[in-house]
Amino acid sequence: MTTPHTLLRSLPADLDPNRLPHHVAAIMDGNGRWAAQRHLPRVKGHQAGVDALKELLRCCKDWGIGALTVFAFSTENWGRPRYEVEFLMTLFEKVLHRELSELVEEGVRIRFVGALYLLPEALQQIIREAMAVTATNTGVQFTVGTNYGAREEIVQACRRLVEQARLGQLQPEEVDEKLIAQHLYTHELPDPDLLIRTSGESRLSNFLLWQMAYTEIYVADLMWPDFDRPAFHAALKSYQGRQRRFGKV
Ligand code: IPE
Ligand code: IPE
Ligand code: MG
Repeated sequence: MTTPHTLLRSLPADLDPNRLPHHVAAIMDGNGRWAAQRHLPRVKGHQAGVDALKELLRCCKDWGIGALTVFAFSTENWGRPRYEVEFLMTLFEKVLHRELSELVEEGVRIRFVGALYLLPEALQQIIREAMAVTATNTGVQFTVGTNYGAREEIVQACRRLVEQARLGQLQPEEVDEKLIAQHLYTHELPDPDLLIRTSGESRLSNFLLWQMAYTEIYVADLMWPDFDRPAFHAALKSYQGRQRRFGKV
């Protein structure tokens, strides 16, 4: 028998289960403005943003979307006031500690992408643990960009390829799109089908530049902490109304 609970969790009837994106990316923007609208300090917006992320991850699981990649902290975000940067690093660490057992239970595989070695040591530690204990999970593939910048990612890939060439292990004609993709942080993931950016901003802000060459972009006017299940439903509805041509006719 169908209970209201399972009804709520199942895919909305107006979405085609065969045409869902396999991989959704999200730029979680607008936390600061969400807080400002409520006369709260900016960091309250970051705290509220965690709940929105948990809900999105749950939606992906409920609706059968295999991969979710979110932008949590960019290589440019170090330029924010020191208090905010430190708050964010501590928040990431606390949330990971708090949520790890549930992620394991839900079968989520979590990965972090970015120049992780520049993060605070305590955060790096819990990141390593989270990646290790979920490494064999086959549920939602959940990837978090933390000190991630697409240009930095491409630079580190180039460095590694040049190093291989210097050792005589790589010839110029062997460098192709596949090889470059294999040296990006996201090498184990397919390219995103859909990018969602909240807060009405229409820019990539150095997120997944290589991987999103043919990603469908959806801009939501909501601030990130307000991005909920109905908002995700609307994004998927928009996605299913698109015709992806990949340069063909
Ligand atoms: C996104 O929200 C979260 C991070 C970049 C860490 P913002 O903090 O950018 O919020 P706005 O854009 O200032 O409102
Ligand atoms: C992008 O948001 C980075 C994250 C969401 C982590 P920003 O708020 O940093 O981007 P800009 O500065 O508006 O382009
Ligand atoms: Mg912002």
